Amino acid sequence: MKIARFSRIGFILAAAGSAVGLGNIWKFPYIAGEYGGGAFVLVYLFTVLLIGFSIMIAEMLIGYLGRRDTVTCFEKLAPKHKHLWKLAGFQGLAGLFIMIFYSVVIGWIFNYIVTSLSYLPASVKESEEIFTAMLHTSFWTQFFYHTLSFIGIIYVLHKGLKGGIEKLNMYLMPALMIILAAMFIYATTLDAFGQAVSFMFSPDWSKIDADAFVTAVGHAFFTLSLGMGAIMTYAASLDKEANIVKSAFWVVFLDTTIAIVAGLMLFTFLYQYGSGPAKGPGLVFISLPAAFYEMGIIGNIFAVLFFIALAFAGLTSSVSLVEPMVQYFIDRFGWSRLKATVSMGTFFWLFGIVAILSNIDGAKEFLTWGGKNFFDWVDYFTAAVMLPIGGFLMAVFVGFVIPRSEVEAVMKPQLKWAFQPWYFSLRYITPVAMFVVMLSLMGVL
Ligand code: PHE
Repeated sequence: MKIARFSRIGFILAAAGSAVGLGNIWKFPYIAGEYGGGAFVLVYLFTVLLIGFSIMIAEMLIGYLGRRDTVTCFEKLAPKHKHLWKLAGFQGLAGLFIMIFYSVVIGWIFNYIVTSLSYLPASVKESEEIFTAMLHTSFWTQFFYHTLSFIGIIYVLHKGLKGGIEKLNMYLMPALMIILAAMFIYATTLDAFGQAVSFMFSPDWSKIDADAFVTAVGHAFFTLSLGMGAIMTYAASLDKEANIVKSAFWVVFLDTTIAIVAGLMLFTFLYQYGSGPAKGPGLVFISLPAAFYEMGIIGNIFAVLFFIALAFAGLTSSVSLVEPMVQYFIDRFGWSRLKATVSMGTFFWLFGIVAILSNIDGAKEFLTWGGKNFFDWVDYFTAAVMLPIGGFLMAVFVGFVIPRSEVEAVMKPQLKWAFQPWYFSLRYITPVAMFVVMLSLMGVL
């Protein structure tokens, strides 16, 4: 049987599709806002370059050398203690866990596409009421759109790597970039654009503390899709001649550019038409619709286009979140793609329903422990615990476990003089940084 391989551009778009997600357009602007803009953005950029880029290369390398599902990759490449190392491959579960809330948020976005067509809230207050009503009382609306997202995702995945994942990204990624570029160009013509630029790039170092630093590192991981085997699983289908460093560069470049473009655009709209850089997760669902309202009719068009772009970003990330475990059941248990896809989908669909309920009045009381509901726990556990552990394991695996000669054989011709600094960073800088991030996010430090 001929194994499906990504085309080179297909791989870059698919990996960039994984990286560019809700993290870039929904999360990045609001955390940048929370930590006061400029200085935070610089710390984040610095982290992406120093840590993110080097782990991106490492994760691609494990997939490229292993060429199978994540568990088999670790098992195959570890010279000894194969049974222990293969457990590292179960990081792929993090993707399924993330999907539990990710699919629900995509559902909210679908809902906003439909409602923004005809109606936008006239004030932030009204907007907030609409959002909280959806969150706390509209179980069936959320259920319906979450189910729609589940069906779309398993449909694409069951079509396979080339006919499903690659094709989806070949259409949605350019569409997403065109929509964002068009809205960004419009934003540059507004007076508030200068304010947005200075908010995002003039650093106010007094706002940066250990917490901001840790958030920036954690976000660099989440946004680059690192630490859970998504990039590894895609790289397992990379053409043997492909250049890992160049691919990694493009993914990091596209991800970062899109986050910054989205941030500048949103802040311009919020300065110009809204209440300034609002903080918190409600930024795109609460402050933004009210700002779109102020634009008049073009606001409705922009709102719909914006939420479509956000849905595209979410969907291309979703397929990469589910694929590692799908690949695992295909490779290790001989399941058909259809069976693997439907089973994995059913998992996140069912728990997604619990996540919805955990926000609904009357049910949330039973699904909240220690101040966090089920939805927040899943978000917290994956981002604060699983991804940093995954990143840590990958850095250590490439830095210390895979024999240096094997790593050198592939990476030295590509990295040249940069091989040594990259290898050093994987061995000593990244693992320590990951460890500190994990402890701080868990509240130990
Ligand atoms: N990178 C995606 C985002 O920014 C989320 C994601 C995390 C996707 C981990 C795959 C793996 O939204």
